[in-house]
Amino acid sequence: MKKKKRKKKRRLRKKRIAILILCIITIIYLIVLLCNKKSKLSELQKIGYSNLEINEINKLSKKEKDVIINNKYNKYLIDYLKDDKYNKNKIEYYLKYSNKYKKIDYKKVIKLISNENFIEKNSDEYFKLLSKYKNINGIIKYVNDLKDKEIDLTDDIISFIGQKYFIYDYLDRYLKYYENNSDLKYSEIVTRINSNLDYTFYKDAKEADISKGMYTLINKYNYLSKDYVPNNLVSVTGKYARDKANLIDVAYESFKKMADDAKKENLTIKITTGYRSYSFQSTLYDNYVKIDGIEKADTYSARPGFSEHQLGYSCDITDSNNVSFEDFQYTKEYEWLQKNAYKYGFIQRYPKDKEYITGFIFESWHYRYVGLDVAKYIYENNITYEEYYSYFLR
Ligand code: DAL
Ligand code: ZN
Repeated sequence: MKKKKRKKKRRLRKKRIAILILCIITIIYLIVLLCNKKSKLSELQKIGYSNLEINEINKLSKKEKDVIINNKYNKYLIDYLKDDKYNKNKIEYYLKYSNKYKKIDYKKVIKLISNENFIEKNSDEYFKLLSKYKNINGIIKYVNDLKDKEIDLTDDIISFIGQKYFIYDYLDRYLKYYENNSDLKYSEIVTRINSNLDYTFYKDAKEADISKGMYTLINKYNYLSKDYVPNNLVSVTGKYARDKANLIDVAYESFKKMADDAKKENLTIKITTGYRSYSFQSTLYDNYVKIDGIEKADTYSARPGFSEHQLGYSCDITDSNNVSFEDFQYTKEYEWLQKNAYKYGFIQRYPKDKEYITGFIFESWHYRYVGLDVAKYIYENNITYEEYYSYFLR
């Protein structure tokens, strides 16, 4: 009996010791944690941050806090943290450069450093220009890509460089156009010049660069020769055509997929015309001129050689009722194509409000095959093929 009691007592003592050790460890851990926090707190206070600021800083990650502790006090820190453009991976640069260039507005500093093209090693060059010019994107692009060119910088030039689709070779044309159109935005001038609108339709035309294959640009500045007939034309028949038509095979394959998917939603899309020969376009155009006169015909029909239909990658589309071209825009099919055509590599080639760029009225029925990637880009960025081609394919 006594032995059993003694054993029980020993076990109890062991248990108590274990609990005691556990408590001591927990207390030590808590003390270390508290000290650490306190030391960070006092470090921040030592640097000069107020309790209010420290509250905000305490919401940050350890990495961000360490950067703050390793830098001098910055009175804009909280503004940086609250700015839409704040990027936690760049906090080191915000503090470093805002302390170095105190006279520059913090808003400019964060805009510059958060820019996707910002390269840290170029910082001092950016900041030098930042005190002279307004367009931050232009400053960054100039320093990154163009500083070896001989450009007499002005605020206008930096602004042009900052535009998304700026092309260096066209700089003089932008500036010349700007002289006579200073009411336009820089981006609009870039769009216009990239689309050659400082040239005259048909008069300043050249033979199209057919080496671009599927991407060849045909418009009022780029024509196909009289005898150009594409390879790989296939005939479009049955449910995919209103009567008879031809299209280049890759475009047709994709068209079929598009029509089949539209059918799943009870929509019918059919091709009225695809490829047109030079001589057919000639007859069409002459006919329209007889009816409407040259000026009007030119707004909706291409002159022979200048029709994208001759290239073989374009088609005009109608629905199950063979609705007229003019009324196609009111159909469910059109609505569907607007949302989905790009997923099959087709773009609406003559969109609304872009008549002055394409040179043709809005054609809800005319689609051009350019492949999936290009069609997606054009759709997402809401640009014309003229703009895409000049920037990416020229
Ligand atoms: N309707 C288009 C612009 C053409 O004639 O090719
Ligand atoms: Zn057409």
